[in-house]
Amino acid sequence: MIERTRGLVIAIDGPSGAGKSTIARQLATRLGYKQIDTGAMYRAVAYLMSQVGIDLANEEKVASFCKDIDVRLDCRNGTQRVLANGKDVTDYIRTPEMSLLTSRISALRPVREAMMWAQRRMGRDGGVVLEGRDIGTVVFPDAELKFFLYASPEERGIRRFAELTHKGEQVTLEDTINDVTRRDEQDSQRDLAPLRQAEDAIPVDSSGIAVEEVLDMMVAAFMDKMNKMETEK
Ligand code: DC
Repeated sequence: MIERTRGLVIAIDGPSGAGKSTIARQLATRLGYKQIDTGAMYRAVAYLMSQVGIDLANEEKVASFCKDIDVRLDCRNGTQRVLANGKDVTDYIRTPEMSLLTSRISALRPVREAMMWAQRRMGRDGGVVLEGRDIGTVVFPDAELKFFLYASPEERGIRRFAELTHKGEQVTLEDTINDVTRRDEQDSQRDLAPLRQAEDAIPVDSSGIAVEEVLDMMVAAFMDKMNKMETEK
């Protein structure tokens, strides 16, 4: 087991719309940990790429582009801002178009490598809750605590639809459920770091369950882990 200086590394993976962001934010708050939304990092890269109109089929161009990207998460007062090459892109990265583009660019090797190293740097000292698709399998396979959060496609689509319409996006429920399903397929079927449950992850079905209930279960698993680590010392 790796000695972390400031607490555990907690991984929360799962498909889109399973409630990862809400759960990760609240779990991090309860534990006094930092939250790292790795999906937001991939979205920031997608935004940067859309601005320069890069040819995604040209691996050399993509690789050289990825060498110069700097993506940071700035968490203050419970809100998270996403900075890409110094620009605050938070308000541009959650449209349906950006979601689909992110799912495409996140399958590219140079993008994944750049983000993996950035995420390892951000989380290596512990005291972090990282949410994504490949945290427990690839980025931190030695994370002390791993969860795999999922829910039915209909429920995930309904949640996404509520989020998008709340922000004033013009979308239909049917299109949103289709988008969520399409993204899941892309994310699970890609060759590199596909969405998959780590063998040692605790599966959590959030369908029809209140956030508080999911959090209580996770905090109980955290306490259990801490006690085990204490007795193993
Ligand atoms: O969690 P999200 O919906 O914001 O993620 C956006 C996209 O980024 C998602 O379609 C898959 C990709 N992603 C990834 O490939 N690996 C991660 N660790 C996080 C997100």
